[in-house]
Amino acid sequence: MKQTLAITTKVPTFASPLHVGRPNLGDRNALLARITDILDRRWLSNDGPLVKEFEQRIAEYVGVKHCIAMCNATVALEIAIRALDLRGEVIVPSYTFIATAHVLQWQGITPVFADMDPQTHNIDPECIEWLITPHTTGIIGVHVWGRACDTEAIEAVGREHGLKVMYDAAHAFGCSHRGQMIGGFGACEVFSFHATKFLNSFEGGALVTNDDVLTDKSRLMRNFGFAGYDRVIYLGINGKMTEVCAAMGLTSLEGIDELIATNRKNYEAYRKGLADLVGLRVIDYDPEERSNYQYIVVEINPDRAPLNRDELIDVLHAENVLARKYFWPGCHRMEPYRSLQANAPLLLPQTERIADRVLVLPTGMSITCEDIERVCAIIRTAAEHREEVRNALRGR
Ligand SMILES: Cc1ncc(COP(=O)(O)O)c(C=O)c1O
Repeated sequence: MKQTLAITTKVPTFASPLHVGRPNLGDRNALLARITDILDRRWLSNDGPLVKEFEQRIAEYVGVKHCIAMCNATVALEIAIRALDLRGEVIVPSYTFIATAHVLQWQGITPVFADMDPQTHNIDPECIEWLITPHTTGIIGVHVWGRACDTEAIEAVGREHGLKVMYDAAHAFGCSHRGQMIGGFGACEVFSFHATKFLNSFEGGALVTNDDVLTDKSRLMRNFGFAGYDRVIYLGINGKMTEVCAAMGLTSLEGIDELIATNRKNYEAYRKGLADLVGLRVIDYDPEERSNYQYIVVEINPDRAPLNRDELIDVLHAENVLARKYFWPGCHRMEPYRSLQANAPLLLPQTERIADRVLVLPTGMSITCEDIERVCAIIRTAAEHREEVRNALRGR
């Protein structure tokens, strides 16, 4: 049975768990009204009116010409990769969710892993240059935590070597880079609207772009290559978003100002609560940019902090705070890449180091400032009672 460390940490534990990525629901009545309309119309999928409205609203919000809504970001990435005709080798960060690598491997393309910039956790453009071979056709940057990667440097490398550049913007809806909304960079960008994401459509994603040709191709590919009744002109797949998902997406979109305000308040509460703890740093969001503050990311330096990342996670889990490691241990250490690219760790020293240090804490609409104060108190008290905590963890 699970044993709490509450006595050791001298802070009351949580009766029910606090989750990372707990979905934010938006206005329930607005959602239910939309679902009733869907049922009345009996138009459940296949480019229905709510999907069209969702696409239009997303494109307007982000300031791009086209939005193609999809069933999830993984399929949207796959379609983007095919529509851009990427093949051979494509350079991606290892420090990302496994989908960024899998969407390539799944299509017989080799993901070549580049190291990160430890300040930003994003792909390091200098490392990209070293990895380019005659087989390289593209680069996929990922805006990790919604903080934009160095698009200027990445695109300069792309131009110099004739490579296509696109972005996995799964974390970055509602965020900006140099004052421009993420969504308009590179050949295209892909958002995720998974239940745990900032904008939620149960499951969902979107490819956004200013490129008309890419849009036409992607729309065809999303619907099996159909160009009209009984006329298939392309290899395609089923990437369509359903009307119910669009209903949730639209409802979620209406609530994002409130969600940003809540996420930001939570972020500031954590920053305050964890300030001046030795060896522990809550990552920054640039106040000059728009951010969704969806991730409370803490980096723990094991050489300075009283407890390392894994010990702290054990403490938090014992107190029902389900903090999570993120992107650990890096794509290159997961299968099939671990077996296929056994030397990759040698090329990824920063990814190896940072992946062992990152911990993500719960935020969103279902956590209160008092909860956050308690989470911070648990961390602070655990740090102050390192030996007792270590003994308690050993005895569990
Ligand atoms: C960086 C990144 N890329 C891609 C995805 C895949 O998104 P989806 O679950 O919508 O397919 C995720 C989801 O967590 C992600 O975090």
